[in-house]
This record gives sequence, structure tokens and C-alpha cells, in this order.
Amino acid sequence: MNTRFLDACWGKPVDRTPVWLMRQAGRYLPEYMRVRSKCTFLELCKTPELAAEVTIQPVDYLGVDAAILFSDILTPVEPMGMKLDFVPGPVFEHPIRTMADVEALRIPDPEQDVPYVLDAIKILRRELAGKVPLIGFGGAPFTLACYMVEGKGSKDWATIKRMMYAAPDVYAALMEKITMMDMEYLNGQIKAGAQAIQIFDTWGGVLSPTDYEKYVLPYTTKLINGLNRQNVPIIHFVKGANAMFPIVKKAGGDVMGLDWHINLGTARDILGPEFAVQGNLDPTVLYAPRDVIEREVKRVLDENAGRPGHIFNLGHGILPTVPPENAKYMVECVHRLSQK
Ligand code: CP3
Repeated sequence: MNTRFLDACWGKPVDRTPVWLMRQAGRYLPEYMRVRSKCTFLELCKTPELAAEVTIQPVDYLGVDAAILFSDILTPVEPMGMKLDFVPGPVFEHPIRTMADVEALRIPDPEQDVPYVLDAIKILRRELAGKVPLIGFGGAPFTLACYMVEGKGSKDWATIKRMMYAAPDVYAALMEKITMMDMEYLNGQIKAGAQAIQIFDTWGGVLSPTDYEKYVLPYTTKLINGLNRQNVPIIHFVKGANAMFPIVKKAGGDVMGLDWHINLGTARDILGPEFAVQGNLDPTVLYAPRDVIEREVKRVLDENAGRPGHIFNLGHGILPTVPPENAKYMVECVHRLSQK
């Protein structure tokens, strides 16, 4: 039974630093591409046996200390009533623009509307059999709203920001509805067996600290407070938010995810002992020669300086063209260099 990851989430001492990689299942792995060549990404997400298979692939190959459910943050948005496509980035045919659009959104019942997600979790708990814990996840309300309003990825997210400023009632109604959906969805994952939950706020950092506090913090706080999390640590990852950690930490949770634009020790000083941290190697280090990978892993471990409550990870998702053996070597370095 490997409990290193969960122990570190709770700030307990561990024999060596646990490590997993954001987006550890995916296109850089040839065994993922073999499964993926036979179906679309959404079909993969909706077929529990296949989702479970690709979830376990990186656990076996990399030797990481946690598995993360294979799905997408946008999976539960489709049953809200928004047709979704991946090309390969996500595209919604009819983005949310008006109050009528918001009112037409439903709040899905996980057991009825996304049974495949819950089934994948149940299969995984059985197949992992305690070998490593299973992380469930969802998008933070703001990041989900970004895609739902823009209809796809964006450089400046001007459409949702315009809604925020020019139609604050529409924005608030949308965020409220997404928060309720997220709460049901993540509590459904916990009930099905997810042992930790990561909330991805990939785009939270595009706002000023004042706007983050006004337009994002209340919803993420409400979401985290609404989770049945007695024994389930919550990891909150807000990319690009280092300069507003004193505000972001008010949302609560147990672990703060760090991108690579901050010294990990500095982040710990700002966050204080009540938060564990997860991160924060620059994902492009995985293109470097072995001696550089080792040096950079050691640097991040040194920045933590032996404090309990560190989960090693990349500062964002692994890139699709990374050589898999480099990712495996990184995991080995974390384990070897942090061994007590
Ligand atoms: O971490 C894991 O291994 C679990 C799986 C996972 C995926 N997406 C699979 C995926 C997780 C945790 C996500 C989260 C996600 N999805 C986020 C937040 C994290 C982040 O990276 O910031 C966001 C913003 C999305 C939305 C999304 N999904 C985008 C922008 C894309 C296109 C990505 C690209 O590189 O083209 C996706 C598709 C997606 N989600 C893929 C995978 C493996 C690629 C799909 C494919 O096989 O073609």
C-alpha cells in the first residue's frame, strides 16, 4: 500500500517525496496512442474500461505515486447541454452569451449523466488495489466558464472578461450554475472512490488580483466548502497566480499547486504551514539531457528544504512531444534524491 502521496497531502512525514505528473496519461506515451488510434478522445473518456486502462499506463511505466482519472475538465459540461468536440483543443458549437443561454443549462446528475466517469473510478479502485491512490479532478468554475463563453481556447479571454465587466448578472448566474454542477460532479467522484481531488484553474491567472478576488474566489471557495472531503485532500491549482497567493489561499483546500514561475520555498513561506504544496518543475526540463533533469529535480527538492507536505510534479501538464524515458528518469531522480 503506497500512501506517500496522501500522507504528503496531509503534511505528514514520508520516506521519500511522492511524485506524479499532470497529464501523465496522454499522447507522449506510445501505449496511449495505440488505444487512442482506435477511437476519438471523447469516446475514450466515455468508455470506462479504456479510460481505466490509459489511467494505469503511466502508473506502470513511470512508477509514479498516484494515478489521475483519465477524463477532461469539460466532460461534465456536455450534459449541461453544450455539444462538445475536440479538434484536438475543445470546441463548443454554441457558446454561452446571454442570460437565456445560462438559464437553458442543466445541472447534471452524475449517476444519470456521466455514469462512465463514476464507473471508471470504480474499476480503477479495484484494479489499483491500493498500489497507488486515485486522484479525481474537475475544472474550477472560472476555467470552465472561460471555455463555455469563448467556445474554445483563447489568447486573451476577452469575451468572458467582457461579460464579467459588461453583464455581471449573466456572469454571476453562469458561475453559480457551474459551481453547483462542479459540487455535484466532484462529490459524485468522491462517492465513487476518488481519494483526492484536484481543481484545475488553468486560466485564473489571467485576471488582476482584485478581479480574481471579486469574480473567482467566491465561487471556488463555495465549491471547496461544498465538497465531502473529510478524508479526501483537495489540491487547488491556479496557474499564473503566484503573485496573488495571499488571496487564492482564502479559497481553502489542503494542497496548493504551483506553476514553475515561483521558487518553491518562497511559495511555502507565503502560503504558511497550513498548506502542502505540489510542483513545480518547468515541463520543458523534460527535453533536457539527463544531468540537467537531475540538477533541476535536485533544485526543486532543495527549495523545499525537507519540509513535510511536498508532492513533486511539473508546473503544468507534460508536453505531448516529451520522450517518455525522460519523464521516467525524472521520477527516478525524485525518488532517489529525496530518499530518507
Ligand atoms: O492528467 C491526466 O493524465 C488526466 C487527464 C486530463 C486531460 N485533460 C486529458 C486530455 C486532465 C487532468 C485534463 C485537464 C484539462 N483539460 C485542463 C486543465 C489542465 C491543464 O492542462 O491546464 C484543461 C484546460 C483541459 C481542456 C483541454 N482538453 C485542452 C485545452 C485540450 C487540448 C490539449 C492539447 O494538447 O491539444 C484537451 C484535450 C485533452 N485532454 C487530451 C488529453 C490526453 C488530448 C486529447 C487527444 O488524445 O487528442
